[in-house]
Order: sequence, then C-alpha cells, then structure tokens
Amino acid sequence: MEITIRGRHGRASRIAFGPLAGIGDAVDPGKTVLVTDRLIRRIYGASFPPCPVIEAPRGEAAKSLASLEALYGRFLDLGLGRDGLVLAVGGGAISDLAGFAASTWLRGVDFGFAPTTLLAMVDASVGGKNGLDFRGVKNLVGSFSQPRFVRMDVSLLASLSDVEFASGMAEAIKHAVIAGGQYFALIESATGISDSVRERPSAEALERIVAGSVEIKAEVVERDERESGERRKLNLGHTVGHGIETATGLPHGHSVAAGLATACRLAVSLGRLDGAELERITRLLAAWGLPSSIGEALALAGARPASASDLASSLGSSKTLDGPELRSAIAVAIPADKKRLGSDILMALPQAIGSVLIEAIPLADIQAFVMEAP
Ligand SMILES: NC(=O)c1ccc[n+]([C@@H]2O[C@H](COP(=O)([O-])OP(=O)(O)OC[C@H]3O[C@@H](n4cnc5c(N)ncnc54)[C@H](O)[C@@H]3O)[C@@H](O)[C@H]2O)c1
Repeated sequence: MEITIRGRHGRASRIAFGPLAGIGDAVDPGKTVLVTDRLIRRIYGASFPPCPVIEAPRGEAAKSLASLEALYGRFLDLGLGRDGLVLAVGGGAISDLAGFAASTWLRGVDFGFAPTTLLAMVDASVGGKNGLDFRGVKNLVGSFSQPRFVRMDVSLLASLSDVEFASGMAEAIKHAVIAGGQYFALIESATGISDSVRERPSAEALERIVAGSVEIKAEVVERDERESGERRKLNLGHTVGHGIETATGLPHGHSVAAGLATACRLAVSLGRLDGAELERITRLLAAWGLPSSIGEALALAGARPASASDLASSLGSSKTLDGPELRSAIAVAIPADKKRLGSDILMALPQAIGSVLIEAIPLADIQAFVMEAP
C-alpha cells in the first residue's frame, strides 16, 4: 500500500511499507548520507544502504542547535551537494533533526525517513513539520518541508521498549479521537480493553494502525500544510502535553496522553464533550499504561528518578517535588506554545469522538484548569 501527500508546489511525499533492507533500491548510496543514533545503528546497521552514516545523540538531545551544527559539519566534510539525499533512520527526534538539517542545507536538499518507532510511523515522519528545541522550548525552530519518501517497516518495532511503544499508541489514539468511526473502532479492538496482559498488535494489525493514522494525517495536511486552520486539530493534547513534557521530561506520547485527557476534561467542563466519551478515551489510554490525567503523569514522572532529579535541579530546589510545584511548571510552560492569539490559546477541543474543533480559550483559564484538574 502506498499513500501520497502533496505538499506546497505539488511536492509529493510517498509513504510506503517495506523492509528497511530494501531501501538501498530507492536511494543512490553514492549521493546519500544516513543520519541515525548509536542504538539504531547497532541493532539495524546491517540493513543500512552502503553510504556514510552520521550518529546523532539519542532521544530529545538530538533536537538541539549543537546537534544541528555537528550535522552541518559532517555534511560539509562529506561534500553533500544539491543533488544529495539525507536519509533519517530513527525515531521522531532523529527525523526532526535530519529533516530540519536537510531542508535548510544549501537552502534545501531532498530527504527521506525510515522511522523506527511507532510514534515516528504514525505521526512524526508524516506531514512535513521538522522541529528543533530552543532554550528548553519544544519545536521553537523548524521548517515545513516534506520528505521525498517514507519507508515504513513495522518489524523494526519488535526491539522497541514497552514504554516507547505505548508512547506511539498515544498519538494513534489522538488520531482516533479526531477521526472517530472505523479508526477508533480499530484502535479499540487492537487494545482489547478487557485483557489484563497487554499484548502488542500483530504485524498486520500494526500496518493497519500505521496506515490509518497516516491517512488521517495526510488528509488534513493536504488541506492545510502550514497549519493556518484545520491542521491545528492534530495538536489535540499538545497544548498541555508540551507543558507536561517540558516540565517532567516524560516521553512525548505519555505527555500527549495526559494532555489529551486534560483537553477532554476541559471540553466536558465547558459542556462540549459527553462524560461517557471521555471515559472511552481514558480507558484506551489507561489500557496502554499511559497517564490519563495530569496527576498520573506527575506520579509517573516522580517514579523516574533521573527526570525528577533533573527537574529538581532546574527548579533550583532540593525539596521533595510535590504536585503544585510541578503543576505550576506545566502551567508556566504552556504560553511558550506557538498556538496563541493574544491572551488566548487556540486549543483543539473534542466535541465528540470524531469531532474536534479549534477554540480560543483564555490562557489564564487553561492554566487554572491545569492546577485543579485530576
Ligand atoms: N515532526 C512532527 O510532526 C512530530 C510529530 C510528533 C512528534 N514529534 C517529535 O518526535 C519526538 C519523539 O519521537 P519518538 O517517540 O520516536 O522518540 P525518540 O526519537 O526520542 O526515540 C526514543 C528512543 O527510542 C530509541 N529507539 C528508536 N527506535 C528504536 C527501535 N526500533 N528499537 C529500540 N529502540 C529504539 C531511540 O534510540 C531513543 O533512545 C519528539 O521530539 C517530538 O516532538 C515530531
């Protein structure tokens, strides 16, 4: 199966399923540089095409100006020219870094993605947004530029940890809330809510989940590539989610999960969303071990000693981290989000499963809700 997204100036991005090892047929190794991280190279390096390989830091650390500068340096050393191609093999952090570097090198060279995480397959590799973090704010520097191709190989997900797998399910659940209908039903059946032991979907079910998410995202992106209107729906869960990610260091999907549940609760409190639909959504999140409230996200962050101590030092405090301190940190991080209109935030709010609208909500109201919400 193949999906094509037509971006600006008719630039097409071809998204297809197939083994990573076959990617050598789609690229000219003599003109390609491959960007990955050390872990991916160790596990999957044997399937890489025979081209120069550049290792970037693992995880969010890849999305820094220092990583970008190091990458530009290697592009220069390797003589990457206008007819070259940058191939990113990795999660969303690697594709964000490599996509931004490629779209700015020599004013833009072609790039392609072979995503290796579920989150990168259902979301980050599709849609043409490439972002870096700046001074602790997520995705403040970036470009809109479509990859020439995306190669999806779901067999690569076998080595993904349960936490990273669940993080990807959060973005798939977000797409299910936006689209409703068959895709929500597919996610519910893949989740099997009554199971006590969570089993991962089969390869076939995974391909349907990834393809469904890509189709939902592609349809929105084709109509509004540069996020002037409808594309804002895809930010469902991200207004509060980015605040949680910045304040706690939880994985992107876990932060978005708690942000999604919080957006749904806000919608219920404003009389937009039915409480029973909120229940259906939070049950799905909980089934994958994702936080379905800010409180649960904070409990999870507290259980992760590394991020809790990082946070303690960044707050300049040696006190035990309690809820209100962390909640303030989340609330403070929200205005750094880019979706602002004066003192209002343009927030995606579900009206029902399958219906999400953008509403201008006063920032102060969202911040107050963050302090009180479950
Ligand atoms: N550009 C977009 O439209 C968009 C959309 C959503 C998210 N994002 C960004 O994506 C990033 C998160 O991406 P992510 O969730 O893919 O995480 P990630 O890229 O940070 O990777 C997480 C970890 O998983 C490891 N890993 C990757 N693939 C693996 C595999 N197959 N087996 C074992 N380990 C593997 C990596 O080495 C890394 O340590 C965030 O920075 C987020 O802002 C971007």
